[in-house]
Amino acid sequence: MPVHFNDKKRITTKTLHEMKKSNHKISMLTAYDYTMAKIIDAGGADVILVGDSASNVMAGHETTLPITLDQMIYHSASVVRGAERAMVVTDLPFGSYQGNSKEALSSAIKIMKESGAHAVKLEGGNEVLESVKRILTAGIPVMGHLGLTPQSIYKFGTYSVRAQEEEEAKQLMNDAIELQEAGVFGIVLEKVPAHLAEKISRKLRIPVIGIGAGNSCDGQVLVSHDMFGMTHEFSPRFLRRYLNLYDEMKNAVNQYCLDVQIGDFPNDKEQY
Ligand code: KIV
Repeated sequence: MPVHFNDKKRITTKTLHEMKKSNHKISMLTAYDYTMAKIIDAGGADVILVGDSASNVMAGHETTLPITLDQMIYHSASVVRGAERAMVVTDLPFGSYQGNSKEALSSAIKIMKESGAHAVKLEGGNEVLESVKRILTAGIPVMGHLGLTPQSIYKFGTYSVRAQEEEEAKQLMNDAIELQEAGVFGIVLEKVPAHLAEKISRKLRIPVIGIGAGNSCDGQVLVSHDMFGMTHEFSPRFLRRYLNLYDEMKNAVNQYCLDVQIGDFPNDKEQY
């Protein structure tokens, strides 16, 4: 069983900072609904991320771009109802914060008010700094997201590893420092070389949560449907599958269909 840093109380931004200071790794997983949030909370994840990956995982879109603020609110409110200990961080979706900082603030206020989430996450560095600062003025905790930023997929054209070249690595480090100085409580670092993630994690006072960013980050995040093996088409090197639920669930459906066909379900004990 994992050792809980703070067994009873709700995890907050303060807890996450204390965890970084005492070298206690932070575990974060995505959830988009109440039942999954309850399981992940009971399993001991410190942070539940209502990722805009809901656009792929829940709605079957190819990218994260189509999901709307109202859809994110629906997912986030469901997760909040299922999470007792974990801090719930929700993604600001594409188009809800890039326009200008006023729009970013009203999107952040709307999602916090209507979902009950504890913080927002948004993608980007220097280009979103003004929005980050404005959201923070309302007392809303903000998490950054650097490296592979799926909302910019059409700009980059590929989901491959980012910041392999010196110049991009330097830019990434600068962005991380600027976000920290602006006041974000943590940063997700996605798909960057492990040695760069280590450098950034050491440099920053705030927790760095990695996905495909090696073992030296202050914590790790995975998409829970990938980690449970419910999805099976997607197999990046960084993904560890802890279960093979795709096959288990498919076999259960097979068995159910068979039982219905042969008249075995329901049996005498399963009826009134
Ligand atoms: O949307 C998401 O699930 C994310 C994680 C991959 C970090 O942002």
